[in-house]
Formats: sequence, C-alpha cells, structure tokens
Amino acid sequence: MRFPISRQGLEQIALVVIVGVLVFAVLAFLAHRRGAPWRRYAISSGVLGALVLLCFGLAYTIAPNIPTPPVPFTARLAQNPTPDTPATIALGRETFQRTCSVCHGARALGDGPAAFTLVPRPVNLQLHVPQHAAGEVFYWISEGIAGTPMAAWKDTLSENERWSIVRYLQALAARRAN
Ligand code: HEC
Repeated sequence: MRFPISRQGLEQIALVVIVGVLVFAVLAFLAHRRGAPWRRYAISSGVLGALVLLCFGLAYTIAPNIPTPPVPFTARLAQNPTPDTPATIALGRETFQRTCSVCHGARALGDGPAAFTLVPRPVNLQLHVPQHAAGEVFYWISEGIAGTPMAAWKDTLSENERWSIVRYLQALAARRAN
C-alpha cells in the first residue's frame, strides 16, 4: 500500500484551503466592524485553519516516509541477463533518453521538462538506483508504480531494453556513463 498523496499534493491542498481561511477571516472582520454576527465566520476560518495544519503535519510526517512500494521477493532476485558492456550501456542510454528523460531528466536527476507538473515528483535515480537490487528497478520499470505517473513499460520496451536501462542507470550513478 502506498499513501495516496505525496508531500507536494498535501502542500497544494493546504495552499488552496489557506485561501478559504483568509476569506472567512476577512468576512468575520467585516461583520464584526458592522456589528453583525461574526462568530460563524471566525469558526469557519478556524476549522479550515486546522485543516491546513493537518495537511502540513501529514506532509512532513507520514508522506515522505512511505517507501517505493515493495516488489515480490522473486523479482528482487532476478539477475540482469545483459552483459555490463559499453554497448549495453549505450543501448540503455539511448532508450532512456528517448522514453524516460522527459520526466526523469537527461541525467536521471528527477528534473525532466515534465517533472515539475508531476505528483509525486520523480526522485533522483542516481541516488535511488544504487540503493536497490537490479531486479527491483527492473520490476518498477516493467510494472510501473501504482498511484504515481510512472507507467508500466513491459508492453512498450523489450526485456533487453529494460535491463539495458538498468545497466545504464547503474553506470550513470557510478560515473561510468553520462
Ligand atoms: C510520465 C513521467 C514518467 C515517465 C515517462 C517515466 N517515469 Fe519513472 N517515475 C515517474 C514518477 C512520477 C515516479 C514516482 C516517483 C519516484 O519514485 O521517482 C517514477 C518512478 C520510477 C522509478 C522508481 C524510483 C524509486 O526508487 O523510487 C524508476 C526506477 C523509474 N521511474 C524508471 C523509469 C524509466 C526507466 C522510465 C522509462 C522507460 C520511466 N521511469 C519513465 C515518472 C515517469
């Protein structure tokens, strides 16, 4: 299970609700000045304010600690069938630049041109790929990640292309590719 909303998502909700807090606060202030009943406006503002605090609380406690969803144990054990050669890395690089860099960025730093619009944003793969078994990375590329814009690529890319991307990302993280 993945917590359905990321930190950025919760922050965006909070920013929208803050507008409501301000609107009700202004209404309460104006009513108070006119001598009209103002408490209901003030309470509305306070309730929304509490919601804002809740969003920020979740955004900085629960949301960042949700790891990338686990993969089946057998998938983790899968070995990369492609040889670790410049030719494999070149194929992986070419495939990655064509298919993935729009979101993940040309150097897989999570800064592709489309990354800014994504919730959650792509992570820095140069940091993340070395933390995972090759089989895990291959599984995410093949199956996608539910609840994120990361699609499954198993119908679009051949197995050889997907494993070559894993080689490329590992080489990139190890400064053996660019
Ligand atoms: C539409 C934008 C988009 C495209 C295209 C895309 N990804 Fe992703 N990818 C994401 C998002 C968003 C995530 C989820 C956040 C994260 O974990 O980086 C993700 C997650 C991942 C992860 C898991 C990283 C981790 O450790 O959490 C890997 C690996 C990955 N993508 C590789 C690829 C590869 C390889 C391709 C090309 C075949 C690709 N992605 C294409 C958006 C995209």
